[in-house]
Amino acid sequence: MTDDLTRRTQVRSAWDAVADDYAAARRHDGPDTDLLVDLAAALPEGARVLDVGCGDGRRTVETLLDADPTLDVVGLDFSRVQLGLARAAVPAATLVQADMTGLPFSDETVDAVTAYHSVFHVPRAEHPTVYAEFARVLRPGGYVLTTVGTGRSESIRRNWLGSGHAMFWSTPGPETTKDQLEAAGFSVEWERHVDDPLGSTALFVRARRE
Ligand SMILES: C[S@@+](CC[C@H](N)C(=O)[O-])C[C@H]1O[C@@H](n2cnc3c(N)ncnc32)[C@H](O)[C@@H]1O
Repeated sequence: MTDDLTRRTQVRSAWDAVADDYAAARRHDGPDTDLLVDLAAALPEGARVLDVGCGDGRRTVETLLDADPTLDVVGLDFSRVQLGLARAAVPAATLVQADMTGLPFSDETVDAVTAYHSVFHVPRAEHPTVYAEFARVLRPGGYVLTTVGTGRSESIRRNWLGSGHAMFWSTPGPETTKDQLEAAGFSVEWERHVDDPLGSTALFVRARRE
């Protein structure tokens, strides 16, 4: 049986391998990025936003900075290749290489956390750790805006996008995810299904740290 750390290491290698092809295959705006524009409008000038699993940065980090150039947007990802793409695409952003299960930020130093299509690559047994980390770094009243997997499954796709690497997804179901967010200290504001970048729909939840 593969342990959770090994699984996360496999996911990082897979993202390093597929980053360029994935970036070329995606739309860069749409109904899901509109949610980031709404979030930017709810934040004070100069607020710090931590974008977790930022990937190439073009949809999340870039959208946030376009919506409000005063924001202090930090993109975090554990894939070196994804961060290289983000560096080229969004030079104004601060970028950090780290694993979302242990965020390299002090307590209560962030105004909003965004996590688009990223938490579901972490083994679901570790999702409570991820949400606890989001809550720890957020100031009281801070926002989390995250994609929530609608299934309740763990799946592996071998040779994903022809990369020779396996990709992994892990979701406990939306009700459990909302329970986990609440257990971490969040109040759910709303949930919405919107079009996602690969042509289907995705569920988003926005919540506030109590
Ligand atoms: C599907 S991409 C989404 C990229 C970006 N959020 C977007 O929507 O365009 C998922 C990203 O999450 C990152 N990721 C997955 N697991 C992670 C982890 N445990 N810690 C940090 N980043 C992770 C991957 O490297 C990848 O760049």
